[in-house]
Amino acid sequence: MKVLLTGGAGYIGSHCAVALIAAGYQVVCFDNLSNSRPQAIERVESITGTRIPLVVGDIRDREAVRRALTDHAIEAVVHFAGLKAVGESVEKPMLYYDNNVRGTLALVEAMAECGVRRLVFSSSATVYGQPQYLPLDEAHPTSATNPYGRTKLMIEEMLGDIAAADPGWRIGVLRYFNPVGAHDSALIGEDPNGVPNNLMPFISRVAAGRLPELSVFGDDYDTADGTGVRDYVHIVDLAEGHVAALAALTTIDRPLSIWNLGTGQGYSVLDMIRSFERVNAVSIPYRIASRRPGDVATCYASPAKARDELGWQASRGLDAMCASAWRFERMLATRNSG
Ligand SMILES: NC(=O)c1ccc[n+]([C@@H]2O[C@H](COP(=O)([O-])OP(=O)(O)OC[C@H]3O[C@@H](n4cnc5c(N)ncnc54)[C@H](O)[C@@H]3O)[C@@H](O)[C@H]2O)c1
Repeated sequence: MKVLLTGGAGYIGSHCAVALIAAGYQVVCFDNLSNSRPQAIERVESITGTRIPLVVGDIRDREAVRRALTDHAIEAVVHFAGLKAVGESVEKPMLYYDNNVRGTLALVEAMAECGVRRLVFSSSATVYGQPQYLPLDEAHPTSATNPYGRTKLMIEEMLGDIAAADPGWRIGVLRYFNPVGAHDSALIGEDPNGVPNNLMPFISRVAAGRLPELSVFGDDYDTADGTGVRDYVHIVDLAEGHVAALAALTTIDRPLSIWNLGTGQGYSVLDMIRSFERVNAVSIPYRIASRRPGDVATCYASPAKARDELGWQASRGLDAMCASAWRFERMLATRNSG
């Protein structure tokens, strides 16, 4: 099956490209390179030994999407393309609604025009808002605390309406918890522009001396050590979840399905720091800073639905996540000095 990956040059998209190719899919990437580089695709090509067409284009350009779908005889789309920085979304809400919501609308319009109605969408655990109970299962009420989260929620609702109006669609909404780490080859990984928003790339940069210290936002939460608890999931496990979801869409008999992709296990910020230090024999200087508005104390998934319906379960633990993130960071240092 030929699959178009929007945002395929990005962090999650590039790892999914590897997993999909390993599972026998043919992959075409569609990316405007606003937060990635074409070299990521070359690295996926070298990992997989497969040539991957890259269409440089914007999902808001419906005609460009339509051309990519028809030129490559695409049968399914995995839709990663989007902006994802919470703080930036507060400062530039119009940009986020335009890129994420209007972009997704243009994409699904182009898909409908071309008769491609199989879609996997990158959603986020952020749509659960403030947890009312734990672990978070897919039936937990949804809400949003910032424009980024609201774009994910709006897209989910839009996809729900589309699936209700035309039951010929097969849509899989994947609610990611906290993807971290890198492919074993260390050729691809998470390398955000500017100061990282996410914990793991921040830790890696502090370990490498690229940033002086880590700020731990809040140590007075109602958690075992007072720092925030999250469900970190290895990026390679997450990528395999997409392969399972895409396969399920060919057999499942309902137009829209929602699955959490998480491990079901929560770790605190201090757990993460200590594991990273121990596994990689490095030191992570940190200081306690005030809480960030909108951050929740504890968030972890019930992965039961993905296990039961997709046969998917995360298998890589925290040590593997920390080791792979550090291998990737050191590879970046070599690449940048070379
Ligand atoms: N990384 C996380 O922690 C996380 C968690 C939950 C959900 N998500 C979602 O997963 C998806 C992928 O995230 P990521 O971490 O790989 O981010 P990323 O920024 O590395 O990848 C996104 C890719 O989409 C491309 N893109 C953005 N807007 C585009 C547009 N209008 N047209 C074409 N391409 C466009 C970017 O250039 C980039 O290559 C996003 O939708 C994000 O919101 C990510």
